[in-house]
Amino acid sequence: MKILITGTEGYIGARMAPLLMARGHTVEGLDTGFYRDGWLYSDIHQLGMVPRTIIKDLRHVTTADLEGYDAVVHLAELSNDPLGENRPEITFQINHRGSVDLATKAKAAGVKRFVYASSCSVYGVGSGDFLDETGAVNPQTAYAKCKVMVERDVSAMADAGFSVTFLRNATAYGASPRMRFDIVLNDLSALAWTTKRIAMTSDGSPWRPIVHIEDIATAVRCALEAPTSAVNGEIFNVGSNSENYRVREIAQIVADVFPGCELSTGKGGADNRSYRVSFDKISSKLPGFKCSWTARQGAEELRARFEQIEFDKTTYEFRAFTRLKQIRYLSRSGQIDQDFFWR
Ligand SMILES: NC(=O)c1ccc[n+]([C@@H]2O[C@H](COP(=O)([O-])OP(=O)(O)OC[C@H]3O[C@@H](n4cnc5c(N)ncnc54)[C@H](O)[C@@H]3O)[C@@H](O)[C@H]2O)c1
Repeated sequence: MKILITGTEGYIGARMAPLLMARGHTVEGLDTGFYRDGWLYSDIHQLGMVPRTIIKDLRHVTTADLEGYDAVVHLAELSNDPLGENRPEITFQINHRGSVDLATKAKAAGVKRFVYASSCSVYGVGSGDFLDETGAVNPQTAYAKCKVMVERDVSAMADAGFSVTFLRNATAYGASPRMRFDIVLNDLSALAWTTKRIAMTSDGSPWRPIVHIEDIATAVRCALEAPTSAVNGEIFNVGSNSENYRVREIAQIVADVFPGCELSTGKGGADNRSYRVSFDKISSKLPGFKCSWTARQGAEELRARFEQIEFDKTTYEFRAFTRLKQIRYLSRSGQIDQDFFWR
């Protein structure tokens, strides 16, 4: 298959592209390069398999850019709740309008499959019961509201010639050259390694399903390779039932893997999200899909990588590994304009 992945210079895309290439697919990328300054480590899998990448803003993509691809995997957005709240109007411009326009142009260009990286953030605040794809969503932020609107608008485009699939990923973790420390397991692991303190920002009670980025890549691969009858118009939560944790349980796993750290809770802040998610559908209905990673293995992977690269506090705090810091820096320094286009 010839596949265009948007967001190949991002956290997930940097690990997904080599995986799909190793599978024998022809992969090309598209990315505007907001986080280009950040590259945590190199290895032969990453360096040998960087896809040819079109450097372009999603909002400037044309139908002609999308001609010749069998599938588009769409990852490129302002990709988390705090970043989405920074300038909500731009979040709607990129994440909602940009994504719907991309799907419209992909369909016009004759692309046969569109796989969209949605998020379990759409569940927002739940009661603690397992939430599945058939239940009501309760998005709390601009980021999550955009995910819901893209699912609604793009699902209306599905037909026999244009298969659309929505993957509601749990919060990601795991090592990537395009590392992010603004997600719970990565952040707590980096804190443990660099400061010996595992400081939760909440009281630790919120439910947070988590999933390794390699398992997200596997879900994308399975969605691309499945018969369209199994995936067209479908939403799948991506993760596994056993990987629903309260934040304090994630912190305890990190404490076990990084011994000798002090564990502390915080007061909690604006982030009131708490959701516990059922992953029954993906494990029974998406052919070939199974999660391979657990939170503990993820923390161990990070520990080994930190040790290998002599990871330190300066690198942990580097702006390009934390999305909101990097976007604020690019704005402050005048490199991007008020609409987040490069000057
Ligand atoms: N990381 C998670 O925990 C998680 C969880 C659920 C869903 N997702 C979704 O998966 C996707 C990928 O996430 P990620 O963690 O790799 O994000 P990321 O922020 O690391 O990467 C996103 C990439 O998209 C690019 N991009 C952003 N706006 C763009 C634009 N207007 N034009 C072109 N490129 C643009 C950025 O430069 C970046 O390289 C996102 O849609 C995100 O919402 C992520």
